[in-house]
Amino acid sequence: MGSMEGRTILVTGASSGIGRASALALSSAGADLWITGRDQGRLEELAERIRERGTTVHVAALDVTDAARLDELARRIGEDPAGVQGIVHSAGALAHDYATSDDGVEMTVATHVLAPFRLTWRLAPVLRAAGQSTIVTVASGGMYTERFDLAGLEMTPGDYDGVRAYARAKRAQVLLAHEWSRRWARDGVRSYVMHPGWTDTPGLATSLPTFHRLGPLLRRVEEGADTAVWLTSGAAGEEGTTSGIWLDRRPRGEYYLPWTRPRRSRSADGEDLWRWCARRSGFSDSDVPLQ
Ligand SMILES: NC(=O)c1ccc[n+]([C@@H]2O[C@H](COP(=O)([O-])OP(=O)(O)OC[C@H]3O[C@@H](n4cnc5c(N)ncnc54)[C@H](OP(=O)(O)O)[C@@H]3O)[C@@H](O)[C@H]2O)c1
Repeated sequence: MGSMEGRTILVTGASSGIGRASALALSSAGADLWITGRDQGRLEELAERIRERGTTVHVAALDVTDAARLDELARRIGEDPAGVQGIVHSAGALAHDYATSDDGVEMTVATHVLAPFRLTWRLAPVLRAAGQSTIVTVASGGMYTERFDLAGLEMTPGDYDGVRAYARAKRAQVLLAHEWSRRWARDGVRSYVMHPGWTDTPGLATSLPTFHRLGPLLRRVEEGADTAVWLTSGAAGEEGTTSGIWLDRRPRGEYYLPWTRPRRSRSADGEDLWRWCARRSGFSDSDVPLQ
């Protein structure tokens, strides 16, 4: 992986686990950073470590489901002369109990789908103006169990199941990541989606304690973050930007189970997801052009 000096990357979920390890590896490669998460103390501790390496870091403590805070962050970044040339969307959690964001959106969808949609949309002018930029979404192999089905994406209190909600949201992330490439590739924006492999993080310990007992079989956070960091550097070029999910620096298939194959074309599903995200985010068609 080459030097990332002169590039500024925004990492969400940087206060813990894979996002934190990604931020550290990116700063080691010379990148300047914006780091976000909810826990101000852990972000400040990380920022201290990054500054010791001599790179610039901006801290933004926020909940990604808070639309106003995301808009404010995008505005701050837009006003900074350095802008950003990349985003790593790592914020995420598997929640076993049903909850909603302040806007009334089921929390798994709000965190994994609508937050990246909003933040990326708000930063799109900066990313597109950069000439060469990368978006990396940390999805999950958990998505292999679910087909993309817009009607079932946002689960209700009556049918909520945290593992299924998570798998569906991660499946939607794959589609959304490819939509960004499809729409903005001509402006030099490359969007990749990856699976970190099962990684020993605080999030895994809380959400899937049985899995977490695999202990030594799990990856270290640096290993979980490796592909995300490598993709952020632009090393993959055009490959795997409009289909596939990356694991261990290689693009893999999106479907292993026959019943998860899409019933319609990728562009039809992508278009529907895009419209749904725009509507659920409260954007009008003129705010978010459909093409
Ligand atoms: N670990 C695995 O084996 C594994 C496997 C597949 C996919 N993933 C994915 O990897 C990503 C990182 O997970 P992790 O395992 O590193 O878990 P983690 O250690 O719990 O880290 C999750 C990060 O996301 C942030 N976050 C969660 N909800 C947020 C919200 N509403 N607003 C702002 N920040 C929020 C957390 O912030 P705070 O801590 O400050 O609240 C934290 O920084 C997730 O997208 C997860 O789905 C992980």
